[in-house]
Amino acid sequence: MGNSEPVWGIIGGTGLTAIDSLMVDDTLETETVWGAPSAPLRIGRLGGRKVVFLARHGDPHRIPPHRVNYRANIEALRRAGVDRIIAVNAVGSIHPAMTPSSLVLPDQIIDYTWGRAPSFHEENLEHAVHVDFTWPYSESIRDALRAAAAEVGVACHDGGVYACTQGPRLETAAEIRRLEQDGADIVGMTAMPEAVLAREAELDYACLALVVNWAAGRTSEVITMDDIRSNLDAGIGRVLQVLEACLRA
Ligand code: HPA
Repeated sequence: MGNSEPVWGIIGGTGLTAIDSLMVDDTLETETVWGAPSAPLRIGRLGGRKVVFLARHGDPHRIPPHRVNYRANIEALRRAGVDRIIAVNAVGSIHPAMTPSSLVLPDQIIDYTWGRAPSFHEENLEHAVHVDFTWPYSESIRDALRAAAAEVGVACHDGGVYACTQGPRLETAAEIRRLEQDGADIVGMTAMPEAVLAREAELDYACLALVVNWAAGRTSEVITMDDIRSNLDAGIGRVLQVLEACLRA
């Protein structure tokens, strides 16, 4: 895009298939060497910033977490000039303080996924590529999101370990106990390989997670889609407030 104005990418997860307040200037149907991204890119302005929005699960929501073409999504955003990404992810909570409908800014990931294409660097290599992933999320975007949340008075847990499971099924109670022993605070299905592909593409990337349920076995109830939906509805407005304040800053 050739100018120095930062371009923010927003990857919307479950419950965030579109952002109504995004003033869309252009809709880009695109294809990458990795295939098509989940949905057309919505290019516009939010909070005064140039934004490219992508619905991770498609628009309408139809692609399950293990079938998302994460490489095409990251490559399409990069090609559209994006240099920093905020990923919005719906998650279950393992940590007692991270109650349903609260927001979390995780700072670590444990990857339990399998069979997903985990890298841009797999074929025709002159040398193997091993990116550093000690700190999987961008500290500067996490700082910006934390400051934005404080500015609009939205509570946000700062830090946490995101356990990324394969899905699409939810976990068993024993699996959640194991994740807790591993040190996980929240559990979702979409952090990986998205975050590492952003790192490989040299894009700053952070996650704003919305808790939509207690993880399996944390209550005596089973997890229903109705409960998930009502926690999504209760929290998504605050996600948008934080996003807009972050881009305004
Ligand atoms: N487990 C995995 N992924 C999720 C959950 C969960 O409980 N809730 C939302 N995404």
